[in-house]
Amino acid sequence: MIESDIKAKLSFSDGTPDIDLPIYRGTVGPDVIDIRKLYGQTGKFTYDSGFLSTASCNSKITYIDGDKGELLYRGYPIEDLAHNCDFLEVCYLLLNGELPNASQKKDFEELVMHHTMVHEQMQFFLRGFRRDAHPMSVLTGLVGAMAAFYHDEIDYSEPHAREVAQIRLIAKMPTLVAMAYKYSVGQPFIYPDNSLSYTANFMRMMFATPCEDYKVNPVLVRALDRIFTLHADHEQNASTSTVRLCGSSGTNPFAAISAGIACLWGPAHGGANEACLEMLNDIQANGGVEKIHEFIAQVKDKNSSVRLMGFGHRVYKNFDPRAKLMRETCYEVLNELGLQDDPLFKLAMTLEKIALEDEYFVSRKLYPNVDFYSGIVQRALGIPTEMFTCVFALARTVGWIAQWEEMITDPEYKIGRPRQLYVGETSRKVPNITVRK
Ligand code: CMC
Repeated sequence: MIESDIKAKLSFSDGTPDIDLPIYRGTVGPDVIDIRKLYGQTGKFTYDSGFLSTASCNSKITYIDGDKGELLYRGYPIEDLAHNCDFLEVCYLLLNGELPNASQKKDFEELVMHHTMVHEQMQFFLRGFRRDAHPMSVLTGLVGAMAAFYHDEIDYSEPHAREVAQIRLIAKMPTLVAMAYKYSVGQPFIYPDNSLSYTANFMRMMFATPCEDYKVNPVLVRALDRIFTLHADHEQNASTSTVRLCGSSGTNPFAAISAGIACLWGPAHGGANEACLEMLNDIQANGGVEKIHEFIAQVKDKNSSVRLMGFGHRVYKNFDPRAKLMRETCYEVLNELGLQDDPLFKLAMTLEKIALEDEYFVSRKLYPNVDFYSGIVQRALGIPTEMFTCVFALARTVGWIAQWEEMITDPEYKIGRPRQLYVGETSRKVPNITVRK
């Protein structure tokens, strides 16, 4: 962090003396005002529920300019990465700060692909779940359970131990996600095939059965690989902040990632692609294209809680660059599978057009986000709706673990401990139970 010559002056109308607060300059993006000494100097906290104006850390991993619609991983535009690199190259980049050369790429692939198996006991743990359990609850449990396998004799303050944990997480997530899926449909688990690429191996574990060969379709593998790349990191979003906060206590990394998965599940975050496809299915079941105007009217009604899922973003206020790339992939996949006339896809495209021209959405700068299209692509790939967020979790694991590593190695690392504005009762005595109302 570079300290700027400019200082912020904070004055108070209650006689508290003015204070000067240092300002730091990042390489790009807004400056930050350092308020760490504010409480010590004034006895006051800042208030920012929802973190609308608060930088919770400094980071070198991902940069977003919401107004420009720009997303950079380690300085590389997402468009460039999506067109020129595969997901494992992106993982290497996020973890190490630089893209791999050819031999580093080969070594990294080998390393990841030799950690794909999970402990055989994991399937017995999995069997404790009801078959109809939501796969995100199962995945949260499975990844949390991994902490039990990789804890006792491991010292995570050791860089090598952390590196192995990072590789294990990236390598085993596809296996765990596929196991959660196979369990839900009652099919046998398919063991990883390390001769395949990372993404092709995942598709095989999802869709192969012991009775039939699974033929890998390179167009579909590329599409899923792109979904992984586009979801790999997104700076300090809710689940990443959860991983950082949870990990800041020094807990086991698998436990911290499990907390991130739990957070991602929510419909305002990673659950949006599932919610988006459910919304499309609902409109389709209730009259289809004819009913779009009625649905949009409901979305705009202040008294209804209905939202147009897959639209809007806390940070992107002009367009989501991931959405543009996902839209491109959506057309590629539907063409490959001959699904251009799929009624749900047509419905989505009509909804997109109507919303993009509607004053309500235009004036609030609400544009399609990545989830608007990723659900359609995943559905076309044969991934069931309730697995969508698991796929997101698989992809985001590298971002979470890269951010966790950055936090642990930050010289300013401290346990995260937000404060509050208390508005409850002041101190009072416990009345005897006989006189309580
Ligand atoms: N449909 C209808 N109205 C909306 C929507 C929407 N999807 N999103 C925001 N608005 C309205 C909102 O009602 C408010 O209107 P008003 O000013 O009249 O009260 C205004 O736009 C600002 O909304 P906000 O809730 O203050 O915005 P936010 O930045 O807190 O919310 C969001 C961001 C993503 C939670 C929200 O846009 C949303 O719920 N979208 C649908 C869910 C979704 O697609 N989420 C995926 C995000 S992308 C994946 C990821 O990166 O995790």
